Amino acid sequence: MAKRPSTVFVCQECGSQSPKWLGRCADCGAWNSLVEERAPSEDAGGGAAGAHRYAPAGASGGARLYSDIEIEQHARISTGIDEFDRVLGGGVVPGSLVLLGGEPGIGKSTLLLQAAANMARTAGAVLYSSGEESEHQIKSRGERLAVGRAPLYLLAETCLERILEEIARIRPALVIIDSVQTVFSLKFQSAPGSIGQVREAATQLLFTAKGQNIPTFLVGHITKDGSLAGPKALEHVVDTVLYFEGERHHSHRVVRAVKNRCGASSELGVFEMTSTGLRPVPNPSQMFLAERPVNAPGSAVLCSVEGSRPILVEVQALVSSSTYGNARRMASGIDQQRLTLLLAVLEKRAGLNLIGDDVFVNIAGGVTVDEPASDLGVVAAIASSVRNRVIPATTAMFGEVGLAGEVRGITQATLRVREAAQMGFRRCIMPAANIDPDARLKGSRSEEANIDPDACLPPSRQGRSGEPRPGSPGPQAVGGGSEGGGCELIGVRTVGEALDALLE
Ligand code: TYD
Ligand code: MG
Repeated sequence: MAKRPSTVFVCQECGSQSPKWLGRCADCGAWNSLVEERAPSEDAGGGAAGAHRYAPAGASGGARLYSDIEIEQHARISTGIDEFDRVLGGGVVPGSLVLLGGEPGIGKSTLLLQAAANMARTAGAVLYSSGEESEHQIKSRGERLAVGRAPLYLLAETCLERILEEIARIRPALVIIDSVQTVFSLKFQSAPGSIGQVREAATQLLFTAKGQNIPTFLVGHITKDGSLAGPKALEHVVDTVLYFEGERHHSHRVVRAVKNRCGASSELGVFEMTSTGLRPVPNPSQMFLAERPVNAPGSAVLCSVEGSRPILVEVQALVSSSTYGNARRMASGIDQQRLTLLLAVLEKRAGLNLIGDDVFVNIAGGVTVDEPASDLGVVAAIASSVRNRVIPATTAMFGEVGLAGEVRGITQATLRVREAAQMGFRRCIMPAANIDPDARLKGSRSEEANIDPDACLPPSRQGRSGEPRPGSPGPQAVGGGSEGGGCELIGVRTVGEALDALLE
């Protein structure tokens, strides 16, 4: 019987080694820091760099002069799904390793099977290796997705060495590993999913991807606390990290790039789960605003920018007197700490009395917005609920709120206003600094941050703070698009001014 390659347990904090697993490192005292790793083999000794188990596939050939290195033009391969290409930065880069994380049942396998089928049709053979489903299960899913007769190879396998053999045999144009937590290497004794195994699998697949220029997708599961299981170590290894977001009870799904060496990060793709797989949503603002209540206090529309794309979302707030002494503050879709901060600003700077009130804030549709420009929308929705006053249905807003109650300028204002105008909004409440380049904040922001009023304003309607505004427009179906594309811009300097403009 072949001798099993020996492994050692290495402390991730201090690097000390132990022949067996220990709960606490004997050297540095760190808890739960020992991870199984392959021991350096004796025959690999002698100091030859090429013999190291993690030596790169090709000879590096020593250092080269910067000016001697030619730029490689990577032709990106389209996945055949627009929204997916967008998150990836315009398609799949040959030789890149992409990690797709998300909760169970959110649609990771579905999306990758759809992309695999499309790429098999256009780019050549695709290997879909699953450790979670049998070939029959994958095929019956593929029937719903209309995979057809593309050269798509299915492999129900969890052994890393076998998967690598199949890659060498088929030489596919794309490899998908569903999921990296089910893959185990024969060289390690630890169970699949343990950090040592996951890291080994990712590293070996990285070498294959880079060495043979095969783009590879890894599916990663998310633990209960929301982080990728098989830890952050994996995020360093891969080129791109994508997260699947969304609620299982909603049909829409969002794929977000949190790291991308081959494109813009925080780029966003929006999908809808249908009976025939994931369908790209070309106009997310329209979808997120589709069920907006008419004439309801506590509802505000904010213009957020995710990656390069502006998206309008509805923020809802409900403020009601607390039954028990302890007031509750709940946020979903925005950061809880940020909500606490904004409530304090509202109390202190806008004179709202919220002590003894429960405050609930929700971004409709289960999306998450985490940029500071969403502050003004949150503040407006809360004030609207407290005062029981409706924000006009054709008003959108954005702006960062500071601790002194000031509304600060933000980036990409033009993009936001243009999206609001396109979606039929007629008024935009925004930081004064973004309208008037001579505002106080000039110099602290780049010129692009300041809006070009001609880009989105008809000359007759240049709005300025304090100017009389036309009567409040009645509720209008969102998504209709205003013919002129005109949107009145109202610049505000403080939260107080913003609330006066919003809640007449
Ligand atoms: P799946 O891709 O298996 O999720 P993951 O790989 O992230 O665990 O998605 C499974 C869910 O998607 C399941 O609840 C059924 C639903 N679904 C559809 O609604 N339509 C479809 O065409 C398919 C294939 C799945
Ligand atoms: Mg799956």
